[in-house]
Amino acid sequence: MNIVELENLKHQFPDGTVGLDGIRLSISKGSFVVIAGSNGSGKTTLLRHLNGLLNPTAGIVRIDGMPVSADVRRARRKVGLVFQEPDSQIVGETVASDVAFGPQNLRLDPAEVDRRVSAALESVGLKALADKPPHLLSGGEKRRLALAGILAMGPSVVAFDEPFASLDDTGVRSIVAEICRLKNDGYTVIVTTHDLEPVLFIADRLIVMQAGRIVRDGFPVQIANEVGDFGVRKPCTCGWPANRRE
Ligand SMILES: Nc1ncnc2c1ncn2[C@@H]1O[C@H](COP(=O)(O)OP(=O)(O)O)[C@@H](O)[C@H]1O
Ligand SMILES: [Mg+2]
Repeated sequence: MNIVELENLKHQFPDGTVGLDGIRLSISKGSFVVIAGSNGSGKTTLLRHLNGLLNPTAGIVRIDGMPVSADVRRARRKVGLVFQEPDSQIVGETVASDVAFGPQNLRLDPAEVDRRVSAALESVGLKALADKPPHLLSGGEKRRLALAGILAMGPSVVAFDEPFASLDDTGVRSIVAEICRLKNDGYTVIVTTHDLEPVLFIADRLIVMQAGRIVRDGFPVQIANEVGDFGVRKPCTCGWPANRRE
């Protein structure tokens, strides 16, 4: 079952820049897909089409079988986006009220909002910080807060845009742990990154973009060695059995 289907997706910005050109991509439910590419290759533009933040210039984006354009609210419920800049996603004065914002907008009753906030904070390990002002959190905690806000909406797909940018080692590891947990819980996970190392060993599929197009698509172990050709730092893969000289 494909939860995401992009059919010949093209995006041209008002100034004429072509951000995406002829993207065909199907992502099966429950998989963990990494999208790599140098700056300006179109990763963020692609993610913003998954829940209708951008509209296609041509082509179709389908989520769970239905075009995003047919029901943008449905697409936003099904696909949660963790933005690159975690501060841009914070709206509440406390961690708990920030997570409550989305479910309240769904007009759920207060008991259900509380239940979802509590479950989401528990799952990202921020329950102890529920009453803290979000701006006091670390970079990794802010991303986990954004993730909690998304989980409280009950999505099927969670997409992270450059989740490792400007995080220290501890922050990176905490986000990798969240990704593993989401995958084990059956979510479809999409991660864009120009730093492959943290996710290479756990991804089901690696897609490489260049100039608005998909230029490689396959098992990470098969194409990781080629990413250097497309402006992505080649990750260390010497520990992989296929690369080992006996
Ligand atoms: N609002 C915009 N107006 C014009 N061009 C844009 C806009 N946003 C992005 N672009 C261009 O679209 C291309 C893809 O950008 P983006 O998706 O942000 O790449 P990435 O996330 O891979 O770094 C780049 O050439 C970028 O300059
Ligand atoms: Mg980007």
